[in-house]
Amino acid sequence: MPKFRELFCIVTAVGLIPTVKDLLSLMASMEKIVSLCKRRGFLFQSSEIYGGLQGFWDYGPLGVELKRNLKDAWWRDMCSGHNELIQQTGAPSTFDMVGLDSTIIMHPQIWKCSGHYDMFHDYMVDCRETKKRYRHDQVRGRWVTHQETKVFVTTMAEADTEQDDIQHRALKFFRLRPKDAESLSFDGPSTTLDNVDEFSAVLGPDAKSLGTLTEPREFNLMFKTTLGALGGEDDYAFLRPETAQGIFVNFKNVLDSTRIGIPFGIAQVGKSFRNEITPRNFTFRSREFEQMEIEFFCHPNSSQEWYRFWRDRRLAWYQSLGLSRESLLMREHAKEELAHYSVGTADIEYAFPFLPEGEYGELEGISHRGDFDLRSHMEGKLDPSTCPMVVELDENGKPRHRGSGRDLTYRDDVTGERFTPHVVEPSAGADRGALAFLCEAYHEDEAPDDSGKLQTRVVMKLHPRLAPVKAAVFPLVKKDGMPELAQEIYAELKRDMAVFYDEKSAVGRRYRRQDEAGTPYCITVDGESLTDKTVTIRDRDTLEQTRIKIDELAVELKQRMMA
Ligand code: GAP
Repeated sequence: MPKFRELFCIVTAVGLIPTVKDLLSLMASMEKIVSLCKRRGFLFQSSEIYGGLQGFWDYGPLGVELKRNLKDAWWRDMCSGHNELIQQTGAPSTFDMVGLDSTIIMHPQIWKCSGHYDMFHDYMVDCRETKKRYRHDQVRGRWVTHQETKVFVTTMAEADTEQDDIQHRALKFFRLRPKDAESLSFDGPSTTLDNVDEFSAVLGPDAKSLGTLTEPREFNLMFKTTLGALGGEDDYAFLRPETAQGIFVNFKNVLDSTRIGIPFGIAQVGKSFRNEITPRNFTFRSREFEQMEIEFFCHPNSSQEWYRFWRDRRLAWYQSLGLSRESLLMREHAKEELAHYSVGTADIEYAFPFLPEGEYGELEGISHRGDFDLRSHMEGKLDPSTCPMVVELDENGKPRHRGSGRDLTYRDDVTGERFTPHVVEPSAGADRGALAFLCEAYHEDEAPDDSGKLQTRVVMKLHPRLAPVKAAVFPLVKKDGMPELAQEIYAELKRDMAVFYDEKSAVGRRYRRQDEAGTPYCITVDGESLTDKTVTIRDRDTLEQTRIKIDELAVELKQRMMA
């Protein structure tokens, strides 16, 4: 998606002095992306015919292919395609990679030892007037003064309508008309509720009166469920809030069943569930989502080098699939933010268009987790505030949450050294990834229609590896043997890649539909094709059309997609 700076250059280059309005109207708004996603079958709201379910999303025919391609690309690049014989640039040594698929529901003790049972919570506030619940750090607002009264007016509106909503709510609260807006004064920029101490002056996001929000309270984000028919208190379990723990508890199984040795990584892709208090921003914060996680086990002495390797490699991966460097931010956590056992955590963030200009949202976190997880699953939940870490004890001096008692240490066959491996964890979200690629891909430009007239075109410039359909095959017209030849080509290509056949409507309209779906190439069978066995390939991004022999088509497409 063109960014503000880019648009400024385009507009000034053609000799116009742009207004903010010009620039804003050129920018692809989130609404346009959301509307395209629904119209073309990338994403639907879950349970839509019953009014929808907040925080849950379904992937339509194009969306499911996009997300599958993203997960496949990750799996191939990180795991199945990894060559353990070659030392990668920036890596301290060669390493092994293997995969895992663990269950969503696991022994409840796992979540006690991992810390999720005690610590995986958000602070939330309830509104006594509306009975609605909000996440404390996600309610935004601004101090507004009218005459002598100062009120913190909150809103749940998206960034681009936030100020309008605050003003509208403030006018209503002070019983003023829109023409009286100038009698309001705004104090400081908008901020989140966790920066406000005086709750009695807060106008809740949906409330009419002041001071209706409760003090923030802890709320565990794990979904609880019961096992078996009787379902007593002892039969509860949780839907996993991350795939990572399935990897830690299988560390020994993987070691014992393979011939790999440290350093190595275990990769897993799968669903995770979090009962988010305020799911929002399309799929960005959902209650059911997919993660792509690696737990990389290494010697403590080389863990810092491995941390740097994974951080840089993961950033480069997003770029290799088409996210521009300017839209990405590598945010290293400040020392104060780090758990003491961690030497580093970095978030790879993306400039999602629903965020205010200059703000970024997390795509992936890369964390150095030390030996916290393996030790916790051996000895019992460790107290992360202790140094060196010791098992957290209860009032009776017993471990608060008992570990498995199994030995999860590692013995180096060459040196004979026994140690608890350190872990570096690159943890990515498949849904956030898919959303970032959709946002980046959305472009509006101009292309000639069937009569040669320039028309606005919506085009999804998805990387060919991610594109749901790699090529579309069209007969120019539905007669003279063209459909038959086009169908032959379609059948041949379909053996190898996702292709689409279309013979309905004018060819220009068919191109437009494929542009919106992000299809990189359109192959057209025309009159010439019948005599000289050639077709045209149209490139989605350059609009260039080249003639090529039908025999060479499959190889040509593969080459273009790999370029
Ligand atoms: N094992 C570490 C872990 O789970 P996290 O930062 O909580 O770390 C990792 O999650 C990634 O999972 C995030 O960077 C994000 O891409 C994705 N993710 C987390 N919560 C999400 C949610 N509610 N909706 C969509 N994706 C989410």
